[in-house]
Amino acid sequence: MALRYDTPSLMRWNARAYDSSFGYVSAHGAPLIELLDPRPGERILDLGCGTGVLTADIAARGTTVMGMDGSAAMIEVAISQHPGLDFMVGEGANFGVSIPYDAVFSNAALHWMGRDPDSVIRCVRSALTPGGRFVAEMGGAGNCAALTSAMLTAWREYGLPEPELPWYFPSPAEYAVRLERCGFTVRLLEYFDRPTPLDECPNGAADWVRVFAGSLLEGVPPATVEPLLRRVNELAAPALRRESGWVADYVRLRFAAVLA
Ligand SMILES: C[S@@+](CC[C@H](N)C(=O)[O-])C[C@H]1O[C@@H](n2cnc3c(N)ncnc32)[C@H](O)[C@@H]1O
Repeated sequence: MALRYDTPSLMRWNARAYDSSFGYVSAHGAPLIELLDPRPGERILDLGCGTGVLTADIAARGTTVMGMDGSAAMIEVAISQHPGLDFMVGEGANFGVSIPYDAVFSNAALHWMGRDPDSVIRCVRSALTPGGRFVAEMGGAGNCAALTSAMLTAWREYGLPEPELPWYFPSPAEYAVRLERCGFTVRLLEYFDRPTPLDECPNGAADWVRVFAGSLLEGVPPATVEPLLRRVNELAAPALRRESGWVADYVRLRFAAVLA
């Protein structure tokens, strides 16, 4: 198994920090697994599986699961934490499978694959049997608007070039059209606010930026990183800090589609 590279479109993930501080990402995946409704004996691909927490939950339903992720660091952690399961490094916009799957599942990953969303959907189609299911949740239009607005303002205030945000947050209509054009029938499509407590992030928005936008910090002079992140916190606090702690302004798009 090739574990030495990250796929080219990826930012580098700190896989261990991801689980300890952002375990809520997979914790929110339970309703999506219910929507997937995995049945014993089915073959399922978990696209953008990260550290494999949900891959393991799907396997526990008696299915045969392959977890695929573009980050070698994530896959290394997945393999070490779930030794009996199959994982591989693979690029969501450019993969093929030798034996098709009954379903492709994806949680919180498709918005990272925004450079060429149609290629991702085409790869999913080619990975499915006729009648196969594509069940996923991703960030939708307006996701993390307060967080990203604070980032853009802080970057501008520090005279830094405007960062190219790495996410793709489509509207429900846009993504449904992409799915249908590619031969899927959309059976369910939900678009909803999901304010998400950042319980394990004592530094609030700054912690979020470090894990989810770490690649944007690579271009920032080291001495500027801390004050820049403090400023992100100041700017984001009025919208996102409550007495109970920080709450990220997540907006989700959840869908179940079937290959005609
Ligand atoms: C927020 S994590 C979600 C992980 C997991 N699904 C979960 O629920 O915890 C997003 C994952 O998508 C993966 N990813 C991002 N871009 C990708 C791409 N182009 N191809 C494959 N995986 C990708 C990342 O490496 C990361 O592990």
